Amino acid sequence: MNSILMKMIFTILVFVFIFLTGYWLGHTGKPYAVLIFTLHKLMALGMLIFVGVTLYPVLKTAGRLQIVCTGMAALGFLFTIVSGGLLSVDKEMPALIHWLHRLLPYLTLLSSLAALYLF
Ligand code: HEM
Repeated sequence: MNSILMKMIFTILVFVFIFLTGYWLGHTGKPYAVLIFTLHKLMALGMLIFVGVTLYPVLKTAGRLQIVCTGMAALGFLFTIVSGGLLSVDKEMPALIHWLHRLLPYLTLLSSLAALYLF
């Protein structure tokens, strides 16, 4: 199996895990289960590092579409992590932040996969 395919499968599996822990957190609500919340955050951080380390070295030779997908993935990670951080504080957040953290993970996953595939 070629290495890009393996990286894409690994990315999908970790994202599935992040999604499942996220739905768990959303379903059970605050106060969040510490273990699940910690796994959710660590996996998100690990995925950011993995996708970043994979894509960064090949960016110099990238075409326009690859740069667009990588940019979308970077923005997706940024806003998903910021909205997740806001949801985890004690104050009640506006519905917009909840919706952002519901929709942006899909954008982040799809753009990360597209960027990996194009390289
Ligand atoms: C790649 C990064 C991430 C992805 C893909 C992701 C994905 C998700 C998903 C799919 C949900 C379920 C939303 C729903 O209820 O429909 C969720 C919930 C949640 N996530 Fe994340 N997440 C990420 C990063 C983070 C980070 C970094 C934090 C905290 C610093 C965080 C905090 C939360 C919290 C607190 C909830 C529960 C929200 C609620 O009560 O409705 N997430 N996440």
